[in-house]
Amino acid sequence: MAVRRIWVLLLPLLAGSCTARPDGPPLQACFTMTPQHGSNLAQTSPSPVTFSWNRSLSANTVIRPGQYIEVSVEAAAGENFKGFMIQARAGTGAELQLVGTFLQRDGYQTLGCTKQADTAAHVNNNTKPFIRALWMAPEELPDEFSFFYTVVESFGRFWVMQESPGKLLGRVPPLPGNEMLIKIHGSLMSIAWGVLIPIGIILALFYKVVWPNGHWFYIHISVMVVGILMVIAGLFVILAHAEWKWLDTTDLNYSHQVLGIIALSAVVVNPFLGLFLLFECCSLGTKWRTLYNICHGGIGIVFAEGAARE
Ligand SMILES: *[C@@H]1O[C@H](CO)[C@@H](O)[C@H](O)[C@H]1NC(C)=O
Ligand SMILES: *[C@@H]1O[C@H](CO)[C@@H](O)[C@H](O)[C@H]1NC(C)=O
Repeated sequence: MAVRRIWVLLLPLLAGSCTARPDGPPLQACFTMTPQHGSNLAQTSPSPVTFSWNRSLSANTVIRPGQYIEVSVEAAAGENFKGFMIQARAGTGAELQLVGTFLQRDGYQTLGCTKQADTAAHVNNNTKPFIRALWMAPEELPDEFSFFYTVVESFGRFWVMQESPGKLLGRVPPLPGNEMLIKIHGSLMSIAWGVLIPIGIILALFYKVVWPNGHWFYIHISVMVVGILMVIAGLFVILAHAEWKWLDTTDLNYSHQVLGIIALSAVVVNPFLGLFLLFECCSLGTKWRTLYNICHGGIGIVFAEGAARE
C-alpha cells in the first residue's frame, strides 16, 4: 500500500514534462477520472467540449444488451484537446459501476478499470479536435446510466468527470402510479392472507371447542367475509395494473399469477362449501358432514398456507 502511494506521488513528477500523459492516463485515474498533474486543479468553468452520441438516440432511451453507441467529444471550432477519458457509469461511491465496454478503434485505447475495456482514453498527446469512440452495451444493464468524460487541454487546464447531457436507461421505468397499485395489491393480500384468513381458520380449528355456543362462528364468518372481499379487491387492483390481462407468459411473475388465480377460485368456492355445511348440516349424515368439513377446512388451510408462502 505504502509503495503504491509513493508511486502515485511520483507519477506526476515522472510525467511532469507533458501536458497529457503521452501514453494515456494512469490507472489511478480510473475512479476519480482526474489527471495527476501536480498541484493543478480541475477547471470549474463549463467544459469547452461538446459531448454527444448517435444523433438518432435521445436521452432516456432504453438501451438493449449488445447495442452499439458511438460517443463523441468535440472541441469548439479551432480548439483542441490532448488527453481524455470516457466511461459509462451507473451509481456512485460504493455502488459505482462501470457499464459496458469500448471497442478498439483508431484514435483511442481501451483500458480496464474494473473489467476489460470499460474505459476509453487517449493514446498520445497530439492535439485533437474531436474523438469518437464506439461503446457496446453489456448483457446486464443497470436501470440508468450516463457517460462521463475528462478532457485535458494542457497540463494546467483540464475538466474532470463531466456528465453527458442526458441519461440512458437499462429498462423501461415503471410508472409511479403502477408502483402504487402493486403496493396496494401487496398490502390487501398480506392483511387478508396473513391476518384475517388465518384468524378465521384458527377460530374454526380450536375455538369450536372452547366456545361451543357458536360465538367462534360469527367471528369466523366476519373475518372470512372481510378477508375474501380484500382478496377480490386486491385482485381487481392488480388486474387494473396489468391492463386486465389475467396471465402474461412473458412475465417473470407468471407462477405467482397462476397460483393467484387458483387461490382466487378457492376463495370463491370455499364460502359456498361453508354455506352448504351451515344449511344442510342437519339433513346430512355424520359421514357426509365430516367429509364436507374436511374439504372446507382443507381448502382453507392449504390456500392460506400457500398464500403465506408467496
Ligand atoms: C450509433 O452509431 C454507430 C456507428 O455508426 C452504430 O454502429 C450504432 O448502431 C448506432 N447506434 C444507435 C443506437 O443508433
Ligand atoms: C508529448 O509528449 C512528449 C513526451 O513523450 C513531449 O516531448 C512532447 O512535447 C509532448 N507534445 C505535446 C504536444 O505536448
